[in-house]
Amino acid sequence: MRRQALLIGCGKMGGALLERWVLSERYEFSVVDPVAESVPEGAHLFRTAEALRGQKFDLIIIALKPQMIDQFVPEYAEYLVPSGLLVSIAAGYAVERLRAHFASVPTIRLMPNLPASIGRGVNGLFATPDVSAKDRKDITDLMDLTGLSIWVESEDVLDRVTVLASCGVGFFFEIARSFVAAAGALDFGPDQARELVLTAFSGAADLAIRSDLDLATLRNNVTSKNGVTQAGLEQLRQDGILDSLTLQTFQAAYARAVELR
Ligand SMILES: NC(=O)c1ccc[n+]([C@@H]2O[C@H](COP(=O)([O-])OP(=O)(O)OC[C@H]3O[C@@H](n4cnc5c(N)ncnc54)[C@H](OP(=O)(O)O)[C@@H]3O)[C@@H](O)[C@H]2O)c1
Repeated sequence: MRRQALLIGCGKMGGALLERWVLSERYEFSVVDPVAESVPEGAHLFRTAEALRGQKFDLIIIALKPQMIDQFVPEYAEYLVPSGLLVSIAAGYAVERLRAHFASVPTIRLMPNLPASIGRGVNGLFATPDVSAKDRKDITDLMDLTGLSIWVESEDVLDRVTVLASCGVGFFFEIARSFVAAAGALDFGPDQARELVLTAFSGAADLAIRSDLDLATLRNNVTSKNGVTQAGLEQLRQDGILDSLTLQTFQAAYARAVELR
């Protein structure tokens, strides 16, 4: 018999994970979300905590905004079996605060990213010491459905993974948006610019992943002396603006994660 899992909150990130989690042979998913229009086939949608009355779950996953956890999560504690496992994907929300709502059950903090929905996510995972080897294995198997998983040894490392891999997806979309917007100056329409930019970025990332060459060498392979790329790169790299802006971006995101703890 499959183990029963409850997903609390099925918005952008919870929904992306669920797209893949419903493929699990180990877990069957129920979902509580007041506004989700639908859930993938195989999952069961409920609108309120009260609607779960009479049910118990082996696994509860919290996918609410961090600011909503203290208000809404306590009403779900009664639905976790005594030997159950708690998982949270809330960015920056510390394990000890979470466990306080659930009588200190074994807890995993998981930091996924949006490409999980197509099986190409990157997940950071941190477990409290009382999480069993079996639960670790079950969650690793579940997360393998969504992409690559990395277990880390502290919540601080998890917050740093968050900046790079979870927020990183947002930073990437912003950079791609900027490329597409600037392509207007080269007389491309938005649809064509989007297709060209995203295909070039995705191909470049795949090439780099498959290559043994470092990123500077790959960049140099595109850059002929006094050529077209070099002319652009001289602007992009002038006065170290790009490096310092990237550093400041990461520092601001990490500082916010620390603040949310
Ligand atoms: N988005 C990402 O890329 C990403 C990446 C990594 C981690 N995360 C983390 O994932 C969590 C969710 O983020 P998100 O972007 O998916 O937010 P979201 O789209 O707002 O999803 C949260 C969902 O939970 C629903 N909800 C509100 N109150 C509820 C309750 N009492 N019971 C059940 N469901 C309730 C919300 O409904 P309403 O809209 O009506 O409030 C919404 O549908 C956050 O903690 C975030 O830090 C997000």
